Amino acid sequence: MTYRVLIADDEERMRRVLAMVFDEMKDVKVVTSSNCVTTLNYLDKERFHLIITDLKVPEMGRVEFLRAIKGKLPDVPVIVLTAYGSVGSAIDAMKEGVFDYLTAPFENDILKLAVKRALKMSSLAIENKFLRQELESHYDFKNIIGNSPQVVDSLRLVGEVSNTDSTVLITGESGTGKELIARAIHYNSNRACGPLIALNCAAIPENLLESELFGYEKGAFTSAEKTKKGRFELASGGTFFLDEISEMSAAIQAKVLRVIESRELERLGGTETIKVDIRIICATNKNLEELVKCGKFREDLYYRISVFPIILPPLRDRKEDIIPLSKHFLKQFSMKMGKSPISLSKEVEKLLLMHRWEGNIRELQNVIERAVILCKSNIITTEHLPTSIVKCALSTDKLQNQPQNNSIVFDIPPHGLSLDALERQLVTQALEKSKNNKTKAAKLLGLTRGTFRYRLLKYGLSN
Ligand SMILES: Nc1ncnc2c1ncn2[C@@H]1O[C@H](COP(=O)(O)OP(=O)(O)O)[C@@H](O)[C@H]1O
Ligand SMILES: [Mg+2]
Repeated sequence: MTYRVLIADDEERMRRVLAMVFDEMKDVKVVTSSNCVTTLNYLDKERFHLIITDLKVPEMGRVEFLRAIKGKLPDVPVIVLTAYGSVGSAIDAMKEGVFDYLTAPFENDILKLAVKRALKMSSLAIENKFLRQELESHYDFKNIIGNSPQVVDSLRLVGEVSNTDSTVLITGESGTGKELIARAIHYNSNRACGPLIALNCAAIPENLLESELFGYEKGAFTSAEKTKKGRFELASGGTFFLDEISEMSAAIQAKVLRVIESRELERLGGTETIKVDIRIICATNKNLEELVKCGKFREDLYYRISVFPIILPPLRDRKEDIIPLSKHFLKQFSMKMGKSPISLSKEVEKLLLMHRWEGNIRELQNVIERAVILCKSNIITTEHLPTSIVKCALSTDKLQNQPQNNSIVFDIPPHGLSLDALERQLVTQALEKSKNNKTKAAKLLGLTRGTFRYRLLKYGLSN
């Protein structure tokens, strides 16, 4: 990480000496300013990790100046460095919460030490702020981005169901935000102070899944040296999030059904029935109804968990969310990496809108994180995007400019069809849509006028 330091000193000589000290510090970039107006302007435009100032600001007075700095960047440490040290100015400075106060002539090593300490504090403050925000975001619906009607609708449902104990089933492709919604439900419920325990059925081998879920008594199997509580039990008083629920074996499905129905279980090797007070949220990226039909998922379990279904659509079906989500992640990552605010170029916005986002929001998040790392200015351009996105968009662009839309998927019905009849229908429709203008009709079907005339003759449609 590169630290940005602002040196505000009216003396050219002093600015040079300081810049030389910082020359030896590889991870520091220095910006200098000679008067308080420029300094305060800089603070509006860029993000800094440390400000060093001589406090000689005849234009506005040192206390006002320090307050103005703190008003703009409350978490950034300020080191006051002055040849005119006086008890009065030191007290003023300390009262305004400056980080350190050094009087010239100063030793380079002492200055460096003060700078290192200040930068350490600054990066901790940034990290802390980020962690705090991340934690708070669990609680706050406003950090779940979505303007599309589908998501607005899902969020309304989430708001309604949060404060109940209903079982919720969240369905959506991988990366559509299932876990985020599950957490939002928990943190907005009256169980928010209780634990949120999650288990991803796909991430745990079948033989371990059962003991993870239900726990075991000492001696239940050879390696069971002491009694262990399962995750259902650990979630008592809170919420249990069962992710990728389609990946459970039939035997485990049966045991889970019992917990959902009666909130009771026995540990492996145990005889005591344990009551658990839990709210259950399930998630899946599979179509459970299909799995029920082909006998891979218990029908009774499916009905039990789908009391309150929430469906998260893939990102490609909610294009209006792409740019707001990108901006949200941009802000998040630039803050985390201590960079100044970054925006997206128009071209990048266009490419992001065209991409298919097979990995949904997770993929978009990764693309933006990568772009923020690569971006050395304050605007993301196409060079910061993975080539796959740029290339893929180029080919889609070509396709969209061509009438023969290869992306149309036509499913032949099981009983078959007559290609001639279909072709005749398409030719007739093209004529209707173009109000009998043959050139336009040919264009609609991606044919030359000659080929189109041949089709007209073939189907006896020319007049
Ligand atoms: N609507 C949203 N607003 C903001 N961030 C989101 C949204 N949906 C998903 N994310 C983020 O995208 C990433 C993937 O979401 P996640 O809940 O893990 O998806 P899933 O569980 O469906 O695979 C997470 O980092 C999550 O915070
Ligand atoms: Mg997930």
